[in-house]
Order: sequence, then C-alpha cells, then structure tokens
Amino acid sequence: MAKITQDTKDIAEQAVTFIVATASKDGKPNGVPIGLTRIISDDEIMLVDNFMHKTRQNITENPVVAITFWAKEARYGYQCKGPARVETAGKHFDEAIQWLRSTGRNLQPKAVVIVKVDEIYYVGAGKDSSIRLDQMDTE
Ligand SMILES: Cc1cc2nc3c(=O)[nH]c(=O)nc-3n(C[C@H](O)[C@H](O)[C@H](O)COP(=O)(O)O)c2cc1C
Repeated sequence: MAKITQDTKDIAEQAVTFIVATASKDGKPNGVPIGLTRIISDDEIMLVDNFMHKTRQNITENPVVAITFWAKEARYGYQCKGPARVETAGKHFDEAIQWLRSTGRNLQPKAVVIVKVDEIYYVGAGKDSSIRLDQMDTE
C-alpha cells in the first residue's frame, strides 16, 4: 500500500481531469480523461463511471490501472498505480449519486471504480521525474 501524501491530494484537487490508463488482457492500451474523481482514503481513488466501455471491459480482464493527474500552475503531478474494483451498489456508489445530485448534474452513474493505490510516482520535469514517492530522497 502507498500512502497518498497531502501534496498528492492538493495536486489532485487542482487537476481538471485524471488520465486513466488500462490495458486489455492481451496488452492493448487504453487511456481516457475522467473528470469525476475523488480521493476517498489514504490509499484509494474513486472514479465515477458514467460512460466507460473499454475501460470497464479492461478492468474486468486486467484490473491494474494507472491514473495520472497534474496541476497546470504547479507544472507537475502524480501517477498512481494499483488494482481497481467495480462497485454498482453500496456506500461509495450512493456517495457518487449524492455528489452528482449536489452539483445539479443530470447524470446517473453506472458504477464507481475504486482504485487501491499501491505505487505513486512523481511526473514532472527535473531530477525527480519518474521517482517513486516512497523511494524519493528526502535529505
Ligand atoms: C473532460 C472529460 C471528462 C470526462 N469525465 C468522465 C467521467 O467522469 N466519467 C466517465 O465515465 N466518463 C468521462 N468521460 C468520458 C471518457 O473519457 C470516455 O469517453 C469513456 O470512458 C469511454 O471510453 P472507453 O470506452 O475507452 O472507456 C470524460 C471525457 C472528457 C473529455
């Protein structure tokens, strides 16, 4: 498990969309922008599925997902990787419905995708590019 740091949460707040990458069981890649995202715990990210097709199929075949987001002003971001699970009922699904309702959006989610974050990498220019956060030199 990787602990999602406060800076990762702050950058996620500023990010407009997350890029969600999956792959089919035979390795065909698929990347999509997802706007309805929320960090729901210190090691989980929730994505709201309104329109996913290949993404959902890929998660069924091959659950490991990579999610990348960045803040335009900060000019850096993070890449989070880990297994995803799909929930079509329950606490997280109900929260997503309430959340969409509170924003006045006329969308009925099909499911939520919960990604358990195992690895976090820094993405940005400079010496820290691609460094895994739990292996970053903090001296
Ligand atoms: C800016 C933007 C935000 C999007 N946000 C979402 C979202 O929150 N949830 C969703 O299911 N699809 C969202 N989509 C649609 C997906 O990017 C994509 O069209 C959908 O997952 C179908 O592609 P797939 O078959 O590869 O999964 C968004 C698209 C754009 C351009």
